[in-house]
Amino acid sequence: MPDRAYIAIEHSQEISGSMELIGAKNAVLVIIASLLLTRGKSRLTNVPASDDVLQMIKLMQTLGAEVFFYAQEHVLEIDTSTVTKWHVGADIMKKMRASILAMGPLLARFGKADVALPGGCAIGERPIDYHLKNFKKMGVSFDESADYLSARAELLHPNRIVLEYPSVGATENIIMAATLTPGITTIINAALEPEVYNLIEVLRHMGARINIEAPATIIIEGVASLHPVEYAIIPDRLEAGALLLAAAITGGSVSLPQAQAYSMDVFLLKLEEMGHEIIIGPQGIGITLKATKYPKAVSFKTAPYPGFPTDLQSPMMAVLCLAEGTSIVEETVFENRLLHVRELQKMGAQIKVEHNKAIIHGVEKLYGASVIATDIRASCALVLAGLAAQGSTIMTGIHHWTRGYEGLDQKLTLLGGSVKVCASHDDAELLYTKSETGTSDQVMSRN
Ligand code: EPU
Repeated sequence: MPDRAYIAIEHSQEISGSMELIGAKNAVLVIIASLLLTRGKSRLTNVPASDDVLQMIKLMQTLGAEVFFYAQEHVLEIDTSTVTKWHVGADIMKKMRASILAMGPLLARFGKADVALPGGCAIGERPIDYHLKNFKKMGVSFDESADYLSARAELLHPNRIVLEYPSVGATENIIMAATLTPGITTIINAALEPEVYNLIEVLRHMGARINIEAPATIIIEGVASLHPVEYAIIPDRLEAGALLLAAAITGGSVSLPQAQAYSMDVFLLKLEEMGHEIIIGPQGIGITLKATKYPKAVSFKTAPYPGFPTDLQSPMMAVLCLAEGTSIVEETVFENRLLHVRELQKMGAQIKVEHNKAIIHGVEKLYGASVIATDIRASCALVLAGLAAQGSTIMTGIHHWTRGYEGLDQKLTLLGGSVKVCASHDDAELLYTKSETGTSDQVMSRN
């Protein structure tokens, strides 16, 4: 996708209908990395062809894996018997921090992993200090003298790992390393996001011995080897959230027959509190949202699972901009995840930021503007706001959108929205000038 690409969103009628979900990006990324623990050909289905997934595929290829991706069918076959390398270069690492998830499997397979540092972070500091500290407890030593991180372990050994925070990535990395480490590794205060469960399920299919105990403890008994698998990735709860919110913000009604309601409890609770009707299918599978015409403000704090997911914070905020009353949204997982506020303000939203809290005073209308996506989920928030805004919205920075979503623009269009991925920003300027805009503030916001 060229840098100058953009997404044009028009004020849309009610988003309504039924839609299938693609597999969860955050599940498939780590599951692809976990295939390094096996030797042979595995087959994954329901794999999204989003840019992050393509990067992870590239990573596997640079390590020597043979990859066949049937993107139209969402089928990914990876043969790891040809993997002979353990170096993940800066070109891949800089584009996608999830590349760090190759470290655990590489250590388990080769006893070594050379991984470029993500975005200039020093050893022991954020954002991968939890990974490194705990690998050290498993016998790994690190050398940072080159421009990459060199990890070595003669023999991984089991340990009692206590996470100071339930980091999703650190939990996943340690689980993967421990599956082939003789003895019992225990992770206390582990992350238990649905994507972590999905990884555990895949590892069990490979022959791993993993148990989960309350409170938030994962116990891994190392085995001698793991075998290739065939596995369907769980439906993406974040794509599900985006589609439900699209119905909510446009006053429509959307059904998602595959959505796993039990992975979205607090989010669904907040939608109900806003006044939307939520209908859950048998055994918690399938969600329908029928939007209220008079949405009410609600407040929430993001938290590790089963709390309100940080990845739905910004999309939810877009919807709250048009709810009656004042909502307070507190971001507790990431330090700097309120950058979308400035963009929503350009569209007429009334939001004040105090530290990690956004205080949103609901307005009657949003207006189309020229906005910039700053991360994957911010891009979703802006597209949702654009569906409800008067006139046209032009969103740049769309590499964030394509990193995280495959075809969500088309899905929204099929459900009655107008969301078009376009090639050049010059065309966007033209389109913007021609479109009905809100106030002069919105026109000025282009600069
Ligand atoms: N953190 C540290 N040190 C570490 C690891 C994490 O300080 O070594 C901090 C992070 O900076 C952050 C918090 O701990 O403030 C939580 O980070 P976590 O490790 O749980 O997140 P992650 O594994 O890097 C995954 C998802 C994110 C999602 C978070 C939280 C993938 C590939 N990414 O990231 O997804 O927001 O868990 O649920 O699974 C997204 O999809 O848009 C996205 C950002």
